[in-house]
Amino acid sequence: MTAFDLTVRNGRVATASDTFEADIGIRDGLIVALEKTLPPGRQDIDAAGRWVLPGGVDSHCHVEQLSGMGVMCADDFYSATVSAAFGGTTTIIPFAAQHRGHRLPEVVADYSRRAAEKAVIDYAFHLILTDPTPEALSTHLPDLIRSGITSFKVFMTYEALKLGDAQILDVLAVADREGALVMVHAENNDIIHWIVKHLQQQGFTEPKYHAVAHAPLAEAEATHRAITLARLLDTPLLIVHVSQAEAIATIRQAQGLGAHIHAETCPQYLFLTAEDIDLPGVEGAKFCCSPPPRDRQSQDAVWQGLLDGTLALFSSDHAPYRFDETGKLPQGEKTTFKQIANGLPGLEVRMPLLFSEGVIGGKISINEFVALTATNHARMYGLLPRKGTIAIGSDADLALWNPERKVVLTDALMHDNVGYTPYAGRQVQGWPEVVINRGRIVVDDGTLHAERGSGRFLPCGLPEPVRQARARQKPAHFIRTLFENAHTR
Ligand code: URP
Ligand code: ZN
Ligand code: ZN
Repeated sequence: MTAFDLTVRNGRVATASDTFEADIGIRDGLIVALEKTLPPGRQDIDAAGRWVLPGGVDSHCHVEQLSGMGVMCADDFYSATVSAAFGGTTTIIPFAAQHRGHRLPEVVADYSRRAAEKAVIDYAFHLILTDPTPEALSTHLPDLIRSGITSFKVFMTYEALKLGDAQILDVLAVADREGALVMVHAENNDIIHWIVKHLQQQGFTEPKYHAVAHAPLAEAEATHRAITLARLLDTPLLIVHVSQAEAIATIRQAQGLGAHIHAETCPQYLFLTAEDIDLPGVEGAKFCCSPPPRDRQSQDAVWQGLLDGTLALFSSDHAPYRFDETGKLPQGEKTTFKQIANGLPGLEVRMPLLFSEGVIGGKISINEFVALTATNHARMYGLLPRKGTIAIGSDADLALWNPERKVVLTDALMHDNVGYTPYAGRQVQGWPEVVINRGRIVVDDGTLHAERGSGRFLPCGLPEPVRQARARQKPAHFIRTLFENAHTR
């Protein structure tokens, strides 16, 4: 009898730190052997000529979620996870999104039920927190953290979602005490609001004005303010979807000062610019997200941030809306930039775009690719070593990448429910031909093999930034003492 359910043979394996040739033996969904040569398993895959990489972890995506404007995403947990799998991703971390007036335990129960019924790959959850009531802060968040939801996103913009600075401090304090990581959408709401008002007064309504309204300085200011709040409490913070140079410089500077600041960027900030939004009619709506794609210099700054480690995560921020009345265009051809649902699809193209431009293009190493698309995410959110790496005892989550295969991205190629990709017409080199989650072959050369509902919920442990912050002896700090006393009284 063979020792393995599945072996992956003759491939070149890369992790975030190493590259080596090995056969991988898989049993009961786990990697149990990594050797130069292994005996056959019940099933064998020949990976000769292909990279064997950890399955991707996409730690920022919106699935089956109502937006701040009340628009339902185009993807449910089935279509989103199928799409992710076809792009080489085996774990997603979407949001259980609270809307004001809703209680967190019910919100999480609702998302958990829907995901369990439909997901084809594994998933964890962050929260979106819009209503930090005393009960939420004192009871619900600690309970949810203990149940494995150890990260929450807060917004500094969007009228229906945003928290004030004092509320963000409350959330940071609870996260610090209970062992969770706060993620922040950093844009100055009043600046955006003010520009929007003036654009509207002067009749500027086309999609391209979305990028004008969401000015780079609105992001830069809010990034600085969010970091200031975290530094006040000497607590970790993750800035999501960073798009431009000044915000990156502020993050880099804070990191240099020893603050526990971490940051993420997304494909739209490397591969799109505001010029993509400047199209006739409402076509530019396909490219509207917040923050918006910027300019070439911003793209360079984002690449630099990825290369020097300022930006540790490359996530999709998949926020899928169809190009019709159900999504991007509530008023059809008459939709103004303010009415366009914000967000782009990206689960399926996130890894191929970075593999092609980054690895094949010679900008990053294969190990950096693994770190940026898998390992750093698992570490950031308390899923390492179960997810995000190739090691004995880790879940057998693998993607076999053919580095020679050239693919033209088209709307029809995508497996999500969006109907378009912002990257249509682009050719990429390098493609994930076989994708394995917990030893199950999910995708094999264009065919889906996984069952609806076969993905599993992953409880997250302590996020690494929180562990690091705790390990460092915190200096006596009057403000910290204030909030620590407040919670013990
Ligand atoms: O435009 C975007 N990014 N939509 C998704 C929601 C968010 O802010 O991440
Ligand atoms: Zn956001
Ligand atoms: Zn998002």
